[in-house]
Amino acid sequence: MLPRRFLCLLGSAVIAASHEQHVLNFAHPTPTAPGVLRRFTPQTSENLVAVLRIAHAHNLDIWNINANSAPHVDIYSPPSSPPLPTELLSIAHSVNNINVPESFDPRLRAENWDLSSLANSTFHAEYHTQAEIDLFIHDMAQLHPTSATVFKLGYSAEGREMLGIKISAPSTGTMQSPKLNFVIFGAQHAREWIATSTALYIAHALLANKSESNSLASLLEIYDFHIVPSPNPDGYAYTWESDRFWYKNRNIVDPIANCTGTDMARNWGAHWEPTADPPTPWLKKNETVDPCSPWYPGHRAFDAPEVNNLANYIAAINGANKNQTGIAAFLDLRSYGQMLVRPYSYTCDRLPQDTDLIEAMLGTAYAGKSPYGTPFLTGTPCEVLYYASAGNVLDHMYETERIQYAYTVYLRDTGTHGFALPPAWIRPVGEETAVMVKYLSQFVARKRSVGL
Ligand SMILES: *[C@@H]1O[C@H](CO)[C@@H](O)[C@H](O)[C@H]1NC(C)=O
Ligand SMILES: *[C@@H]1O[C@H](CO)[C@@H](O)[C@H](O)[C@H]1NC(C)=O
Ligand SMILES: *[C@@H]1O[C@H](CO)[C@@H](O)[C@H](O)[C@H]1NC(C)=O
Ligand SMILES: *[C@@H]1O[C@H](CO)[C@@H](O)[C@H](O)[C@H]1NC(C)=O
Ligand SMILES: *[C@@H]1O[C@H](CO)[C@@H](O)[C@H](O)[C@H]1NC(C)=O
Repeated sequence: MLPRRFLCLLGSAVIAASHEQHVLNFAHPTPTAPGVLRRFTPQTSENLVAVLRIAHAHNLDIWNINANSAPHVDIYSPPSSPPLPTELLSIAHSVNNINVPESFDPRLRAENWDLSSLANSTFHAEYHTQAEIDLFIHDMAQLHPTSATVFKLGYSAEGREMLGIKISAPSTGTMQSPKLNFVIFGAQHAREWIATSTALYIAHALLANKSESNSLASLLEIYDFHIVPSPNPDGYAYTWESDRFWYKNRNIVDPIANCTGTDMARNWGAHWEPTADPPTPWLKKNETVDPCSPWYPGHRAFDAPEVNNLANYIAAINGANKNQTGIAAFLDLRSYGQMLVRPYSYTCDRLPQDTDLIEAMLGTAYAGKSPYGTPFLTGTPCEVLYYASAGNVLDHMYETERIQYAYTVYLRDTGTHGFALPPAWIRPVGEETAVMVKYLSQFVARKRSVGL
């Protein structure tokens, strides 16, 4: 018997999950030894919980949990890691090799992308180092001096200056005034590179000439966009230089045990708890998380400087009259799993009673399918990911900042490449996400009775 969490899925929309998605050809790098991604497909919820409990006890790297009609847990083992516990290997699973890109010296890069158009730029043909991302932000501001500005959020734990790009067309008589604000974050989890590349693509699409086919420039008549492509710059740099699948930030959280990194997805103030996931069935309710754990949520909310900087920026632009004139929409870009997720993150027991929030979610997910047929599962984290998670940015934006249309988008894929999504997918993912941004922008504008 499946628990309520699974049953409630039957009521949540699965957008044509059987549709074959567009697959591109791409060349693989051929590193010496692949990592191994195992997909466990437990038949009962007891077995699912057992998989998660073992994974937790052994500090294994859980890449994805999916509570779809065919529930699964993806667990990654890096090359030459010790064998998994036999109790785990005895549970039914499939095996998928993941090629780990070689670590990379960022000083070796050239910078000859032509940013003058979206269509012809080579920038979106590859992933970019943190230095290149900062360069892109500065270059775009220079190319579009009347509509793009660089904003500085403060410094990361390792002293990197955190940058975002504000995109705001100069006001003319016919434009909405004041404009609505739309905020987009790239990868807080450093290894989710496609989330960062997608944020960069959307910034470029907003600044592309209206005559270009994938331009989002028309949205600037109503909206100002605030995009932070790489909100975890230290972690991101670390994924290029040392560990491709690192996800926390890089602050020293326990100097004696020599442990590094807070999970930024659990460090926000909304329902923050010193435990990893209070409602998850595989942790004891009151188990305080070891700072060396991959799920470490921080000593207290907002103690990751990156999270604090982001929260301060949001509070400043959101202003006093939050739900009326502040930020209208927020997207937290993530990977992977192809899901569009709405509040609440922290609990399985409470849902916002807001039909507009749900209607916008369903329409946005459906819109995302139009360019390439990519299906997006919709629901709350509890419904689609199996677990609730406290201290998440989604609840911060929705509850604390009262942004009515706040969502997390888990981009492609569904586990074939996982976090090692090939660069040939950057553009298609950028395009389908841009269509979602457009749909959501238009939906919110209609609800606010402003043009578009
Ligand atoms: C892209 O390049 C093609 C071929 O050079 C050119 O015809 C087209 O106008 C360019 N598109 C943009 C948007 O610059
Ligand atoms: C956009 O493209 C059109 C047609 O190619 C051109 O006339 C116009 O100057 C361009 N606008 C900007 C801001 O570059
Ligand atoms: C702490 O860990 C880092 C890398 O994980 C290592 O380079 C360093 O030597 C360690 N420091 C101590 C004091 O053990
Ligand atoms: C944690 O929970 C256990 C039972 O689940 C209880 O025995 C223990 O006292 C609790 N500890 C704290 C610190 O609340
Ligand atoms: C924002 O305001 C709208 C309309 O007044 C309301 O329906 C919605 O629940 C509010 N949302 C939040 C997050 O406060």
